[in-house]
Amino acid sequence: MQIPKIIIAIDGYSSTGKSTLAKMVAREFSLLYLDSGALYRGVTLFAQENGLIDADSNIDVPALTEAMKTLDLHFGFTEEGSRTFIGERCIEKEIRGMKVSSQVSPISAVAEVRAFVDERLHEFGKSGGIVMDGRDIGSTVFPQAEIKIFLTASEEVRAQRRYDEMVMKGGNPDMEAVRKNLRERDYIDSHREVSPLRRAADAFVLDNSGMTMGEELAWVRGLIQGKLGLLD
Ligand code: DC
Repeated sequence: MQIPKIIIAIDGYSSTGKSTLAKMVAREFSLLYLDSGALYRGVTLFAQENGLIDADSNIDVPALTEAMKTLDLHFGFTEEGSRTFIGERCIEKEIRGMKVSSQVSPISAVAEVRAFVDERLHEFGKSGGIVMDGRDIGSTVFPQAEIKIFLTASEEVRAQRRYDEMVMKGGNPDMEAVRKNLRERDYIDSHREVSPLRRAADAFVLDNSGMTMGEELAWVRGLIQGKLGLLD
C-alpha cells in the first residue's frame, strides 16, 4: 500500500518484538526501517572495547563523552536492510551478543550518550518515510510522529522469544539469565532520569502476547488506515 512519507514510532519493553514488527511494517508500506537501539548497542561496544566501562558497569563518563567526538557510528544500507557500522567495520553481530546486552542499559542512561544518539536519529527523521523502534521515539525523539505504537507482552512470552532467538543464532542460553537480563533492562530503562521508557500519551498500546505476525500487521494496517483516512 502506498502511503505518505510519515514517521511511525514503535516503542516498548525489551523483547516485545518491536524490530520484527517494525521491519514488517516498513516492508509493507515501503518505508525505511531504523533500529535506534542498535546505536546504543554500538556505543556500548565502543565503550567496552576502549575500557570506558568496567565489569561492574561503572562508566567513565567524561572520557566516553570525549571519545564519542570522534566515534563514527552509523547505519549502512544493504539489500538485506540496515546494518550498524563503526567506520568501515560492520558491528551488527557483536552488538547482538549477551556481553553488549548486559551493559547497554547503563550506557543508554547517560545523558551525553542519549544526546549523541538523538543527533543521529534526527538526521534520518528530516525526510520522513521511516519506521523507527526504541524506548523513547514517540515520547521524545519524534513527538511529531504520525503513528505511535507502544508494544507490550507478558514477561513469560518475552523471555521465551529472546531465548528462542538466541538458540536460533546458535547460542546456548540459560533461561534464568535471559529472564534476569530482561527484568534488569526493563527496570533501568524505565527508571533512568533522562528520557525513560514510557508510553507517549497519544500512543496506541498493542499487547501482542497471543498474536501472530499476520494479526499484528493487520492491526497496524487498520491503525494507519484509520489515522490517514486511507482505503485499501
Ligand atoms: O531495542 P534494543 O533491545 O536493541 O535496545 C537496547 C537498549 O538500548 C535498551 O535496553 C535501552 C536502550 N534504548 C534506549 O534507551 N532508547 C531507545 N530509543 C532505544 C534503545
